[in-house]
Amino acid sequence: MNVISIGGSARMLSKIFVNKNSVRKMAGGGVGLQLAGRLALVTGGGSGIGRSICEVFARNGASVVVADISVDNASQVANNLATDSGPDIKHHSCSVDVGDSNAVKQMVKETMSLYGRAPCIAVNSAGITKDSFMVSMEESSFDEVIRVNLKGTFLVTQAISVAMLEQGVERGSIINLGSISGKVGNIGQCNYAASKAGVEGLTKSAAKELALHGIRCNAVLPGFIKTPMTETVPEKVVSMMKKMIPAGRMGEPSEVAEACLFLASDQSGYITGTTIEVTGGLFA
Ligand SMILES: NC(=O)c1ccc[n+]([C@@H]2O[C@H](COP(=O)([O-])OP(=O)(O)OC[C@H]3O[C@@H](n4cnc5c(N)ncnc54)[C@H](O)[C@@H]3O)[C@@H](O)[C@H]2O)c1
Repeated sequence: MNVISIGGSARMLSKIFVNKNSVRKMAGGGVGLQLAGRLALVTGGGSGIGRSICEVFARNGASVVVADISVDNASQVANNLATDSGPDIKHHSCSVDVGDSNAVKQMVKETMSLYGRAPCIAVNSAGITKDSFMVSMEESSFDEVIRVNLKGTFLVTQAISVAMLEQGVERGSIINLGSISGKVGNIGQCNYAASKAGVEGLTKSAAKELALHGIRCNAVLPGFIKTPMTETVPEKVVSMMKKMIPAGRMGEPSEVAEACLFLASDQSGYITGTTIEVTGGLFA
């Protein structure tokens, strides 16, 4: 039994007695699996946030296609996903370069032939950084970040939408990983921030085109999250960042994944064309 106090001074507080099990149920563990029977495709699923999204979706009853440019990472993730959250749950891995339109079409084709249906959930989590100051940035660093982060998100969103529309998928949900950098900019990241601002514009436009067909499209904007992408950030910068974050810490990949679960599920059925910031309050 936990005691949660609400309000100011301890004596005056009303106290709510909460059974730990009921809290777990309310958090999505027991009220029913939120993605029971659904098929989800997650790009960038081989690492970090994408990996955590695959794990949370699988625990909530979805079959998951883990797609990544690193085929080894993708298959390792797929092999370790939960399979006991419902009947007929099957996970697969798939190799894809999201910036290559033929590879993206092939990924969707393979998925449809493996499952005999289109995914009704797709998450674009594949992403890269190639940081340097704007004045000295190589043209190739700009192009490559735009190719993977923005064009990749476009190609996957387009191919998945076509498959969903052709199959008359109901309750479709596409979730794109943007970044708080796309909203506020960041020193050394003009390519990355531009790509992520583009992801927001793409998301809102796609949402407007797809809404009448029952397909929703939203973006999640993470702040500073502990993943391989941020592993190389110098300790000095990490502690400076932590001071700027109202929550005082970096985020966990699972905290981003839970926001994606909400957007994938029927609980967000009337939410489209919007963004959820998962930043611990950074730049809120
Ligand atoms: N970690 C953060 O602090 C943070 C903050 C804001 C936004 N994001 C965004 O969240 C997403 C996930 O980032 P992460 O931190 O988990 O990074 P990560 O490096 O751990 O994972 C990214 C994954 O994308 C894959 N990938 C890269 N290029 C690809 C390509 N061309 N085709 C297919 N897959 C490719 C990588 O192999 C890797 O598995 C990215 O879009 C990133 O921009 C991360």
